[in-house]
Amino acid sequence: MIKVALNLFFLILLSLTAAGQSGPVQNNKARVVLSLNGKWNYIVDPYENGFYDYRRKAFDASASGKGGFFDDLTHTDKSELIEYNFDYSPALNVPGDWNSQVEKLELYEGTVWYRKKFTISPNSEKKYFLYFGAVNYEAHIYLNGKKLGMHKGGFTPFQFEIDKHLINGENSVVVKVDNTRKQDEIPTINTDWWNYGGITRDVFITETPQSYIADYKIQLSAADRGAIEGYIQLAGNTQTELVKVQIPELGISLQAKTDASGKAHIRIPARKISYWSPENPKLYGVTISSAADQVEDRIGFKTIGTKGQDILLNGKSVFLRGISIHDENPLLAGRLRSEGDMRMMLQWAKELGCNYVRLAHYPHSEDMVRLADEMGLMVWAEVPVYWTISWDNPDTYNNAKQQLTDLISRDKNRSSVIIWSVGNETPLSEQRHAFMGNLISHARGLDNTRLIAAALEVHRNGTEVIVDDPLGEKIDLVSFNEYAGWYWGGTPDEIGKYHFNIKYSKPVVVSEFGADALGGFYADDKTKFSEEYQEALYESQIALLSTIKGLRGMTPWILADFRSPRRQHPIYQNFWNRKGLISETGNKKKAFYTLKSFYSSKQEQYK
Ligand code: GCU
Repeated sequence: MIKVALNLFFLILLSLTAAGQSGPVQNNKARVVLSLNGKWNYIVDPYENGFYDYRRKAFDASASGKGGFFDDLTHTDKSELIEYNFDYSPALNVPGDWNSQVEKLELYEGTVWYRKKFTISPNSEKKYFLYFGAVNYEAHIYLNGKKLGMHKGGFTPFQFEIDKHLINGENSVVVKVDNTRKQDEIPTINTDWWNYGGITRDVFITETPQSYIADYKIQLSAADRGAIEGYIQLAGNTQTELVKVQIPELGISLQAKTDASGKAHIRIPARKISYWSPENPKLYGVTISSAADQVEDRIGFKTIGTKGQDILLNGKSVFLRGISIHDENPLLAGRLRSEGDMRMMLQWAKELGCNYVRLAHYPHSEDMVRLADEMGLMVWAEVPVYWTISWDNPDTYNNAKQQLTDLISRDKNRSSVIIWSVGNETPLSEQRHAFMGNLISHARGLDNTRLIAAALEVHRNGTEVIVDDPLGEKIDLVSFNEYAGWYWGGTPDEIGKYHFNIKYSKPVVVSEFGADALGGFYADDKTKFSEEYQEALYESQIALLSTIKGLRGMTPWILADFRSPRRQHPIYQNFWNRKGLISETGNKKKAFYTLKSFYSSKQEQYK
């Protein structure tokens, strides 16, 4: 009883402090007035000395609300005691993680303070928002010394209304970023990827009219490929008014009236649509307008569904020729920072013959998904409910639910996204079934136009590989990770002895298999970490998986080698997970071509 009351109290507190925080405006990049990307001064603060006093009392919770580094003070009088100074502190690039920019911060986990000065002349007729594409992990944000709020979750956008805090002239924004891993967070304390810290995606000041288009969904109806359905949500001082959707190429210009909450539902019969697909990544120019506001977007229209063991894209059976990808540039050993980095990754996937990518294990940037729209790659998007989460902690669930909500809200208009995944390799238990089950129904409630999945685990009985995870009941695909020939099952030439026993008659999409290979290390196909071993592993896996009647896709682990603090072999790994088909220097390994030729045969089969 006390525990529930306490949780409730903290939830209310959280929402109060985040009063200025609102769900990110849809398609923020179309509203930017000032980019804050570039150099930010930073202060490394392992003891959170700029946040707590020596009694560990938070300065921003003190009566004055002052005293921390967020005051951004500089000496004006020689006898003043100020023990920090951003102006003379070094700088980091934003967007970007600190680990790959400063050698001594490569393994740093803790607090780093960021400060950016910017000049603006706010127009009192307008509203202003401070938007962050992503900050890993816990961010406390201050503008001109005032606390705007706090955000948790390293991979989803958030923003604050800043009208009343902006100064006409020079402003100071200070962000306390803390990437300390904790058991009850999402992700939890143990992962197989580098815990890159920092302001890893774009930062903007966006401007809108007082009454503005906060959100919209314009997609094909799940039930009818001849109708575009969705809604437009206004915010600010709204009264019922007319809003419009225009898609000139389709001869569409529809007006609708908003209700008292500022929402207008739309349904538009649409003929002669050129449906979005990897072969035809058609995007339409769409204009959404209201009396005071207008937003342009590029949207593709497709339907995705299943029938028996088939996956139907626009009603036609497809094979998902995929690859898993981390949000990391192997050449930089850091988070993807620019469209160029992202295009490089997706271009490699295209060279492999892919029509599909698994963006693992957390939401990648909006730019990456928009690029997938443009380049014709279907997307599996995921929230970092990864391995052993604190299943019975309500805060942990609310955190996971919020990240799922923010992911679906941000990318609901992206035609490339076909699957929302609620997690990866989560251990079986009643609490876990409930936790994941609730996430699945939440996702279905938010979006009925896409498939819901999760990367399940398998277990074995002799040479039988069994897939009977109860969650398989609730998801639309049977998607699982299996590492025959690497973590179990002997060498590649031995895995043919296995067969799959899959409980569910649904499309089977193998979300992971693979083997490490140090790029350029050549030996025989029984020598682990050699390119020949990985090549043989792919040949045997493709043969084994092709025995599964319902096999309709795969995303082998993984496109490129990536950093992992769990990989310490000094010769073969050196803090790299080497399961990439491309090495950290950008060289394609032998197995790259094994998969490429399999995919060209699949392309032929499903054309
Ligand atoms: C797991 C996990 C990945 C990990 C991979 C590996 O299945 O989902 O995050 O990197 O296996 O062990 O290489």
